[in-house]
Amino acid sequence: MISLQSYPSMTDYLKSGLYKWAGDARSFDKEGPYIELVTSPNNPDGFVRHSMVNRTGGILVHDLAYYWPQYTPISSAADHDLTLFTVSKATGHAGTRIGWALVKDPEVAKKMIKFIELSTIGVSRDSQLRAARILEVIINSSQNPGGPESGESFFKISYHFMAERWQLLREAVNKGRFFSLPDFQQGFCQFLNQVSQPQPAFAWLKCEDEGVEDCESLLRGHKILTRGGRSFGVGPKYVRVSMLDRDHNFNLFLKRLASIQT
Ligand SMILES: Cc1ncc(COP(=O)(O)O)c(C=O)c1O
Repeated sequence: MISLQSYPSMTDYLKSGLYKWAGDARSFDKEGPYIELVTSPNNPDGFVRHSMVNRTGGILVHDLAYYWPQYTPISSAADHDLTLFTVSKATGHAGTRIGWALVKDPEVAKKMIKFIELSTIGVSRDSQLRAARILEVIINSSQNPGGPESGESFFKISYHFMAERWQLLREAVNKGRFFSLPDFQQGFCQFLNQVSQPQPAFAWLKCEDEGVEDCESLLRGHKILTRGGRSFGVGPKYVRVSMLDRDHNFNLFLKRLASIQT
């Protein structure tokens, strides 16, 4: 399965003379240097992932866009050579277009900075200020939950919010046999200091009904827009559904999903 379908298209678009997209890391067996992208929790299915290419000579890039307490138990501090984050999944501010990286090798970090400089001619200052303020509020709310300025911990509120949505979705799915969802193992979250449940930003929904070949088309017929499994190198029985839409849309989605099963 391909994590994040835009990685292959981005790689191809660059037409790099050095690197080409080589497909799923599980079946990668070529000689020579390589870069492995590890997306954990994974987009689209939400499972925790580890590196798959079992040899030296490669660079690992960990995409931890969804490694936040509202989506997955924080089992340990992220301590990889190169780790990517984005404010879009941490807090939902996708339009700010800001991400950040933790990079151990200063030479690699310098090259990344140069690349950003050349490809953006400088990241929007407005966005930088906005992202800095967002992160400040979140850090304050987490360090001083309930304090006069900070309000409740952002991550606790978000955890409960996601838990409620996943419960509602599982209830809707379990009313019939038409669909199924992945089962996740709970784990101890070091950040929330409690056992917590994986509750991904996307639901990886499967049409179990034998008469349905293409789940995306079936759902589109019921005015539910999803991304089909083919975009991720998987069969059309699967679709990816966003769990982060506004309340109104999420409730409509549940209603329409329930109507298919009756
Ligand atoms: C795994 C993963 N990484 C990175 C991104 C990039 O996020 P953005 O472009 O919103 O910063 C996404 C967005 O869908 C994602 O799913």
